[in-house]
Amino acid sequence: MTNRTRSPEVPVHGVEVGRPLAEFPQRASSGVSTSGSGCAGSTGHSIGPPEPPSVDRADAIVHAVRVLRSGGLVAFPTETVYGLGADAENVGAVERIFGVKGRPSTHPLIVHIGASERVQDWAAGILEPARLLAKRFWPGPLTLVLRRSARVPLAVTGGLETVALRVPDHPVALALLQAFGGGVAAPSANRFGSVSPTSARHVREDLGPHLRTAVDFVLDGGSCNVGVESTIVDCTGEQVAILRPGGVTREDLERALGCSVPVCSLGSIRAPGQYPSHYAPRARVILVEPDELAGEARRLQAQGCRVGALTPRAFEHAVADGQAAHLLLVPEPMTAYAETLYELLREFDRRGCDVIVATLPPQEGLGLAIGDRLRRAAGP
Ligand code: TXA
Ligand code: MG
Repeated sequence: MTNRTRSPEVPVHGVEVGRPLAEFPQRASSGVSTSGSGCAGSTGHSIGPPEPPSVDRADAIVHAVRVLRSGGLVAFPTETVYGLGADAENVGAVERIFGVKGRPSTHPLIVHIGASERVQDWAAGILEPARLLAKRFWPGPLTLVLRRSARVPLAVTGGLETVALRVPDHPVALALLQAFGGGVAAPSANRFGSVSPTSARHVREDLGPHLRTAVDFVLDGGSCNVGVESTIVDCTGEQVAILRPGGVTREDLERALGCSVPVCSLGSIRAPGQYPSHYAPRARVILVEPDELAGEARRLQAQGCRVGALTPRAFEHAVADGQAAHLLLVPEPMTAYAETLYELLREFDRRGCDVIVATLPPQEGLGLAIGDRLRRAAGP
């Protein structure tokens, strides 16, 4: 079960004026395990613009809502990754998202809403399986693709007659959405094709050059605790199908629906997250079998590559013995791996690696989403 529950003391309903930002849970990252094999320790650099001074939480939400209402963009935390949001009904604002991300405007965006009951405002002809999934998994890392209602501009759906909807399970996101009242169209807050941001710092690093002119506000809610994007499920037809594996596992969906849920083949590219090459760090990613990791790292090192190895604990010594690589350990359990996957890929980039060798986790549970992102990171 990956749909985590909020701690009961976290206030999530609307804006509570006067409460400090610190009362939002600042979710600590579970960190990046490092192990030496001839590599320097983490440098912990801060790239991009300096962090803005901390502001009162309620003031931050009020300001973010003002920015959205005036047609600006707000980067905000969710439990999966940070989103770059605009008022879903403001076509001009939605179009700016594509410019900031460098993403083709035909690719649809997810509309984020503050409560499951609002789903009928944004979708039409909702079938029973979709209702069941919304009830079971919202708020949470699940996106439902449904027939769009007239309220959804085609600029949001890339011209499609369907819309992707989600209620995120993050107190800051929910406070923002409930105070705003409307839908917030948001892709992940990174440049098109690159690694999704799981902290406000990542957003500033990625979109830093655009911050003043294009991203009007970054709402800092700490690190994202799911760490991979939402599971996208097509609920428009007879058969429910997974379009993108993510934070809610296939097994969870099948248990909830009482039937098997296929994962759509990559053949039909419907949107950017479905591209074979996506979610990629600067370094080239090469996937190998676990017992090939040490040898492949040594081979690439011998060719003069600066090699990073994302190494399961059981193979730590083999890779370390080769003295060949910047070695980062695969975190355990799988929830911790998902939570830190993008930070690990960024860490290899920070260390100046030009190639990362990695292995696929078992293709079950969250391993399906992690494997999907690693395959796309390794894509052509
Ligand atoms: O966890 C997440 O889903 C994050 C947070 C911010 O909510 N968002 C995210 O958005 O990953 P983005 O734009 O990076 O990926 C959204 C994906 C697209 O790649 C596309 O596959 C799918 O949503 N999508 C959106 N609208 C769709 C539609 N009408 N039909 C099929 N797929 C759609
Ligand atoms: Mg994305």
